[in-house]
Amino acid sequence: MRPIAIAIDGPSGAGKSTLARMTAKKLGFIYVDTGALYRSVGLYTLRRGVDTKDREGVAALLPDIDIEMRYDDRGVQRMILNGEDVSDLIRTPEVSMAASDVSAIPAVRAFLLDTQRNMARKYNVIMDGRDIGTVVLPDAQIKIFLTASPAERARRRFRELREKGVETSFEEVLRDIELRDRNDSSRDIAPLRPAPDAVMCDTTEHDLEASFGLICEIIRERTANGL
Ligand code: DC
Repeated sequence: MRPIAIAIDGPSGAGKSTLARMTAKKLGFIYVDTGALYRSVGLYTLRRGVDTKDREGVAALLPDIDIEMRYDDRGVQRMILNGEDVSDLIRTPEVSMAASDVSAIPAVRAFLLDTQRNMARKYNVIMDGRDIGTVVLPDAQIKIFLTASPAERARRRFRELREKGVETSFEEVLRDIELRDRNDSSRDIAPLRPAPDAVMCDTTEHDLEASFGLICEIIRERTANGL
């Protein structure tokens, strides 16, 4: 039997990664954070001093990039970029913007496609991103499109960054979120949009526990109807 895949797509700050991690733990699935792949390419591009919007320049770097996803004993995903663990380095606002830029480059998306698909070939996965249900895993048995208002997403992201000790302001986070939304939705390749068969889930009015409840309910319903 082919492994089960749950695709969670949506804009940044909708709670995808936290909820996907919780769901993976509950189901015993592997959680695949695909944004971390784009972030790793973004970090590498910044380090090489190449403009993250320069399509040819970034494409020319790809042969030098080796990205590996590893999972530690607790099932936490680690990103290994050319042998270096960059899992924490890819979480800064600067790398977020770089990731958004490089993710609009077709060569980058093609470069990362197999890594993502291979995970779903081998394991039961819950994978989050922007185009998982539409492009990466169009045959995923369950697809969820997670949203929340931009202000609510900025509030959540701001809190998260502050807890990590990253210096920033709410206004800056909101501006970044709106800019990234625009980038991610307007690009001509794999734009952020729900798959026709995705279940929409708006978490603006829900805290984490309630949102987790909604996700579990969607999965229960889909499973009860046969995958
Ligand atoms: O989910 P995230 O914030 O870590 O993603 C970083 C950037 O990568 C985001 O701006 C959009 C892009 N991305 C993408 O284009 N496709 C994915 N499957 C995941 C992320």
